[in-house]
Amino acid sequence: MPTTAVKYNGMSKTPPMGWNSWNKFQSQVSDKMVREMADAIVKTGMGKAGYIYVNIDDTWEAGRDAAGNITTNNKFPDMKALSAYIHGKGLKLGIYSSPGPKTCAGYEGSYQHEEQDAKTYAAWGIDYLKYDWCSASQVYDNTQATMAAAYAKMGTALLNSGRTIVYSLCQYGNLDVGEWGEKVGGNLWRTTGDISDRWASLDNIGFKLQPGREKFAGPGHWNDPDMLEVGNGGMTDIEYQTHMSLWCLLSAPLLAGNDIRDMKPSIADILMNKEVVAIDQDKLGKQGVRVAQEGTVEVWAKPLADGGSAVALFNRGDAAAKVTAKWSDVGVKGSHKVRDLWKHADLGKVADQYTAEVPSHGVVMIKIAK
Ligand code: GLA
Repeated sequence: MPTTAVKYNGMSKTPPMGWNSWNKFQSQVSDKMVREMADAIVKTGMGKAGYIYVNIDDTWEAGRDAAGNITTNNKFPDMKALSAYIHGKGLKLGIYSSPGPKTCAGYEGSYQHEEQDAKTYAAWGIDYLKYDWCSASQVYDNTQATMAAAYAKMGTALLNSGRTIVYSLCQYGNLDVGEWGEKVGGNLWRTTGDISDRWASLDNIGFKLQPGREKFAGPGHWNDPDMLEVGNGGMTDIEYQTHMSLWCLLSAPLLAGNDIRDMKPSIADILMNKEVVAIDQDKLGKQGVRVAQEGTVEVWAKPLADGGSAVALFNRGDAAAKVTAKWSDVGVKGSHKVRDLWKHADLGKVADQYTAEVPSHGVVMIKIAK
């Protein structure tokens, strides 16, 4: 643990939202693609819905020039021009690096160039950095103190860079990152290894690995259960609704990982369901928790700034099931107005509990008014 905490940069009072290249495109990301994605983010309404960060993940890096400055490879001819383009659309640009000598995909990392790289990002007009441990495990001992110090080093460098840059820690949730992620200047930190576009991965990362971390999240500093797979094709729309609902209950960063240029209306509806996104972006910033579980059905709840509660009735099982949310489990008493956030329908006043038939791997998400 570093002795001096890195000052809070004032960012991400609600979980950051945007797009990231990795889940769908890996090394195919390019300047041209990022511009097209920004155009699509504006055209589809994703930007208005809150998805403002356009984040380049790994594989943009070339090496270093004679002065040690990080350089871009031929997929990114001019980062400053790219950021100007993105900013001109009312969006923000994110980038990726590692505290180690190499990134996960084997590209140049920031090891021993932390201040210099932070200044370069600032000069390019970068607004967000994802900092991925990877090869750092080869140059540092993998203790909590060393890892936290390596993250604090970049946290401090970003603060001193002359630009406000959101700081995203990626070290797969190891070494109790929740205990120190905020102290090293992190606005968000990954809680697990990489998500993939399969139900088993969503089920494991979302339902099994997140509970218990809620105490670490709050305005400015969030648990990150990894980027969204919504729309990438490996799950059904029902499963993607579950993915979206759970991430919003978890106050998770919402980084779309699909091709926005080519998005089915059903996927656009999931990513831009205003009522569900509002649960994620609720100003209270209190991460939701599982309040009841019986076999493969479970109920999660999240308290909201207006005194209401968001409640999700999940069915992780292989057949449709009836799920009941008891007001006593949610911490609510008596009769309250209820609204279905996926059907966009008022259900009238409901007393004591709410029961719904939920499809296999599906969700019913409601808001209980104050
Ligand atoms: C790691 C991260 C991923 C992605 C890749 C890039 O696996 O966890 O999210 O950034 O590296 O190489």
